[in-house]
Amino acid sequence: MDIRTWTAVDRYITDLLVLPDSALDAALQANAAADLPPIDVSPNQGALLQLLARVQGARTILEIGTLGGYSTIWLARALPADGHLITLEADPKHAEVARSNIAYAGLADVVELRIGPALETLPRLAVEGHGPFDLIFIDADKPNNPNYFAWALKLSRPGSLIICDNVVRGGAVIDAAIDDPRVQGVRDFYELLATEPRVSATAIQTVGSKGYDGFAIALVTDGK
Ligand SMILES: C[S@@+](CC[C@H](N)C(=O)[O-])C[C@H]1O[C@@H](n2cnc3c(N)ncnc32)[C@H](O)[C@@H]1O
Repeated sequence: MDIRTWTAVDRYITDLLVLPDSALDAALQANAAADLPPIDVSPNQGALLQLLARVQGARTILEIGTLGGYSTIWLARALPADGHLITLEADPKHAEVARSNIAYAGLADVVELRIGPALETLPRLAVEGHGPFDLIFIDADKPNNPNYFAWALKLSRPGSLIICDNVVRGGAVIDAAIDDPRVQGVRDFYELLATEPRVSATAIQTVGSKGYDGFAIALVTDGK
């Protein structure tokens, strides 16, 4: 089994279960045309994020790492009419493409895109009184995962869901010979999950068109 099989099975699942959506398709095309890296979630992963947001009954969502807004659109579509999603992106070019994709999807009134390094934007959100968010999706620079998790906790409440992408990295997470800061960021994030009394968490490994990776999911609790 290799990525060709995983991609074919992703296609099988997507063709059967993921309804065609012209705005999501257009977003991927616009991302490619603008030479954005193809590191967005896959369609069935986007659908999973949307399902989790719906199960959660999310009215407010925070996303750290927008890229071209593909996962943003999936998540924002889970919100009720008065819902709000704030997404954080450091790269102005990515943000420009995302803003256009989000507008094309008819979500400009629902999604607020903040440009700048997330570790500068997050304290501002707190000062402005944003949060607690019902769902927080962490998908930006991996060395900062522990910092993003700390902020996610600050901007959450018991019952909030924190989801973090790319927590397996082709298995590199358990290879002690690898000292890539992105991998170390994921390991440090796991350590925090393991020791933080205010979350109940697990992670699942995934294979698919994006390779071998995984999601961590943490439910914020009252710590008792
Ligand atoms: C994996 S991509 C996000 C993919 C997106 N969530 C999706 O699935 O469609 C990561 C994004 O995080 C952005 N990023 C990297 N470092 C960042 C930082 N310090 N603050 C905010 N965004 C950052 C990158 O520019 C990139 O667009």
